[in-house]
Order: sequence, then structure tokens, then C-alpha cells
Amino acid sequence: MFTEGRIERVRSIVAEAKLAGKKTALVPTMGALHEGHLSLVRAAKEKADFVVMSIFVNRIQFNDSNDFANYPKTLENDLNLARENGVDLVFIPDEDEIYHDHKTYVDVEGLTEELCGAHRPGHFRGVFTVVSKLFNIVQPDIAVFGQKDIQQAVSIEKMVSDLNFPVEIIIAPIIRENDGLAKSSRNVRLDAVQRKNAVSIYNALSSVQKMIEGGVCDYQKMYHEAEKIILEAGAEKIDYITLADYHSLRRIDRIKHKAVFAVAAYFGGVRLIDNMIIDFDGEKIKCVL
Ligand code: PAJ
Repeated sequence: MFTEGRIERVRSIVAEAKLAGKKTALVPTMGALHEGHLSLVRAAKEKADFVVMSIFVNRIQFNDSNDFANYPKTLENDLNLARENGVDLVFIPDEDEIYHDHKTYVDVEGLTEELCGAHRPGHFRGVFTVVSKLFNIVQPDIAVFGQKDIQQAVSIEKMVSDLNFPVEIIIAPIIRENDGLAKSSRNVRLDAVQRKNAVSIYNALSSVQKMIEGGVCDYQKMYHEAEKIILEAGAEKIDYITLADYHSLRRIDRIKHKAVFAVAAYFGGVRLIDNMIIDFDGEKIKCVL
């Protein structure tokens, strides 16, 4: 079943599914669907009986109007992919329906000061606001987000806990191209050479992974290794190469607890992000890319 807009209609369809005893999951997206998004649908289907996908290019989370204007739009293909992958309902609100005379915004203090938050003013406020609205409109039991946007996922977990949303958050693994580049809707904007060079972000993470799993805990060493690999591959700019505590998302100098090592860099004017989660399996340290 596919529907354009109409909040009340979505509410009543989901209410009907719930009345029939179906557990409902939401997969929020901005469209231009790729394997990363579809992996979230599969994770949702493992846990729920009724899967809702939202497609909404959320203007208020774009701190760069060019990025918003250039955001790829492939609605027809998205609908086919959603259908083929067993999405039960696609919610495509229009902007006016979501933001008509809007005055209320949601923020998660502290968790957005580093990483992407430091470079994209207002971005996360836009994300938390729209995700809160989607939770209130769809009222899912479960919502699935990707590790690809780790700061988004961890902050939304905190928002859900702080604001008592009755929603279970699932964080699904990063889906990558064959050479390791994280799948992203923005990858289509890279030309062949930039695309080849962009894999250096993954190579940098892999190299730092080896260092960490070999016993290196010091951020400076990780930073220099990653920076060298990414700059040698011709990145125009690195926004950050950061080691942060997993829960507070504050910078740390050494790994002591669960942490995240994350990178944002530009190739061909396209801002790409990637990360790995650093966790402890007993005494053993393990990086999940
Ligand atoms: P979007 O960039 O479309 O991403 C939608 C979801 O797909 C996010 O949870 C993101 O982390 C996940 N995703 C993207 N690439 C992935 C990959 N390679 N592997 C696994 N998951 C991946 O993130 C947003 O939209 C928006 O901020 C949104 C949450 C929809 C709010 O507007």
C-alpha cells in the first residue's frame, strides 16, 4: 500500500495494522534508495510484521542549500524498490504538511557538539525534529537507523530515552560497495576518479582498525595514519578524523571504553562520512566497520 502525504490516513492504516496484532517498524529515509536503505528494511522485517518507510527530503536539516538542491530524487525507482523489498506502506509527506507554521524544534544537548554536529550547524536539530514528528505520526514500535550515520543513531537513542518515546531503536550495520566505500545517496555525484579516490576513507578506517586491534589506543597515532591515507588520495578537505566516546560522543585521547572512530572528508565537492565502532569483547578489542 502506498500513500502520498495525509498524516491522518497513515495513522489510521498503522492503527489498523496494530489492531490486527502486527508489530510496526519505521524506516525513515530521504529517498534515493540504495542497498544501505534496503538493509534497514530487511532488519525491520526481521523484528516487525508491518514495515513503514518514510521518504522526505527534510529541508531543515540541510545547512547547505546547494546540497539540498542537488539531493538526488528518484521517487519512481524508490517506490519500486520499496515494493520489491516488502515495505507495507510508504509515507511521502509534502513539506507543507510537515512544516506549516512550524515553531517547535527538538535538540539533544551535548551529543552534537563534535563530529558532524561541529561542521553542520542546525543539521541535527532538523533531524531530531523531523524524526520526532515521524515517530508521532507513524507511532511505530520499532525504528531502524544505520550505523553509517552513527552520531544521528546514537543521539536518536538518547532522544527516545529522554523524551520517553515508546519506540525501540535498532542500529543496523554499514553496507558497503565491493571495494569498501560506504553506500551513500551522494556517491552518484562522484566522477570515476573521485569515486576511486573516495575509497581511501575506508582504507584509512581499515588501517586504523589494524592498529587498534594490534594494541594502539592513542588517538594521535590513529589520526596521523588516517589523515595521511586520505590526503594522499587527494581529498580536498577533511572535516574531521575523530575518536569519541560511544555514548557521550565527546572526543577522547585514548580508547578506554566503547568508542567510535569517525571520518568526514570531501572528494569532488561531495562530503562523505564513515566510521567504525570500537568495542570490547571481554579483554579483546574489536572494530566494527
Ligand atoms: P538518509 O540519508 O536517506 O538515510 C536513511 C537511513 O539509511 C539512515 O538511518 C542512514 O544511516 C541509513 N543508511 C544510509 N547509508 C547506509 C549504508 N551504507 N548502510 C547502512 N545504512 C545506511 O539519515 C537520513 O536519511 C535522515 O537524516 C533521516 C533520518 C531520514 C531524517 O531526515
